[in-house]
Amino acid sequence: MKITVIGSGYVGLVTACCFAEIGNDVICVDHDQRKIDALRQGKPTVYEEFLPELLTRHGGARLNFSWDLVESVRSADIIFVAVGTPQSADGQADLSYVEAVAHQIAPALGNGFKLIVNKSTVPVYTAERVRRTLLLSGAKPETFDVASNPEFFREGTAVTGFLYPDRIVIGADADRSVALLREVYQPLTTGAYRETATAIPPPQNALAKIRLIATTTKSAELIKHSANAFLAMKVSFINAVSNVCDAVGADVEEVCEGMGSDARIGKRFLKPGIGYGGSCFPKDIIAYRAVAIENGYHFNLLTEIMRTNEEQRLRFIAKIRRTLWNLKGKRLGVLGLAFKGGTDDIRESPAIYIIQALLREGCIISVFDPAAMKNARECDFGSQLKFAEGAYEAAQGCDALLILTDWEEFACLDLVRLRGELKHPIIFDGRNLYSPEEVAKAGITYVSVGRPDVSPEGLPVASL
Ligand code: UDX
Repeated sequence: MKITVIGSGYVGLVTACCFAEIGNDVICVDHDQRKIDALRQGKPTVYEEFLPELLTRHGGARLNFSWDLVESVRSADIIFVAVGTPQSADGQADLSYVEAVAHQIAPALGNGFKLIVNKSTVPVYTAERVRRTLLLSGAKPETFDVASNPEFFREGTAVTGFLYPDRIVIGADADRSVALLREVYQPLTTGAYRETATAIPPPQNALAKIRLIATTTKSAELIKHSANAFLAMKVSFINAVSNVCDAVGADVEEVCEGMGSDARIGKRFLKPGIGYGGSCFPKDIIAYRAVAIENGYHFNLLTEIMRTNEEQRLRFIAKIRRTLWNLKGKRLGVLGLAFKGGTDDIRESPAIYIIQALLREGCIISVFDPAAMKNARECDFGSQLKFAEGAYEAAQGCDALLILTDWEEFACLDLVRLRGELKHPIIFDGRNLYSPEEVAKAGITYVSVGRPDVSPEGLPVASL
């Protein structure tokens, strides 16, 4: 199949590389010439496992990059639109890029039937609006159809998420479009791809059989927003439970184990911490709430999910204040900048939020992150923050160490060595990466989320 992917951002690039990997001829289009130049040289423009391999494997052969949208659309059977849908001032998704692309596609239609598919996360009715825009721009109705095919992969595991998804959702109102999309995804749904000799290895929990769910375009658009909102709700729910645990002296990890073992609930996305972030959850929930209101329904639960998420960061800062007393002038080592482990993405990162709040309080910060330092260097943190070369260096001479991102390497630090680096042996763990007993045994006071604070024998209890 000849596929054109419009947009070489996170979703677009991974989508283009993976469609090439499963046997299609793909052109990935972007108006940013620097990006196209880099990609043509095989240099990934986002940090993601397996992306460099796929670019090397298919770049210049089945996978090409171009800034000529019209020509790329002309040569395609299916056009996936994966341009940004940022948040506008009123919370709604800003769909002006989607609209602009529709206007640009229209003149390139006419040589045979083409399917235009929204891959970006978009509110309900977008497929309909794209259809109308194309017609307005002069496209003939028999030359195209518009479908929705939301993407569910996660940063850090995007390539394997694309190739081994839990399900594939295609929203299309015409049988012909459903058939085309079924054909594109066949190597994944039949399991043929994973049998190929060079297949990217499946993750541990990959399903043997991948279901393709065909719906209307409106349902597909709602599936994407609802799935993200539900996952964020799980995170906010367990964070709210962790606050009750803090209040009564219970252990939220035990509560999670007990709750999550109910197959109807499940343990995934029940990890308490300092709240969710990233480029999707915060933006999508606001957009979902806005679209519900626009259609006459006040989805108040979504407001509460967001409120709980914001409060969670403030509660963590309050714990630091309660333990360290005055924050002004305190030296803090910080582990983590990314919104979660395994990515260099700092968008809406709770770690960044907490760091900025502590800097405003007069703290002096030394921070380390295995992947996100380059992005963070572009933020203006002022002179009271310096970047360290590693976790132990970040802790050197500090009044306390904060763990803000759940990187695997932060979960297996030499605690005795850390104690030696710190001026005062205190860890605030916003991701519950350690067992409290283990940390206390190493001679460190440990304050985590939804679990009682612990202090080594002879030291005063953590919080007042
Ligand atoms: C999310 C959705 O999972 C994905 O399906 C969608 O396509 C894009 O948005 P992503 O933003 O990559 O993916 O991150 P995800 O792994 O889902 O985590 C989101 C946030 O929730 C992170 O900040 C993470 O730290 C937090 N989180 C997640 C928790 O705090 N606890 C959990 O148990 C799970």
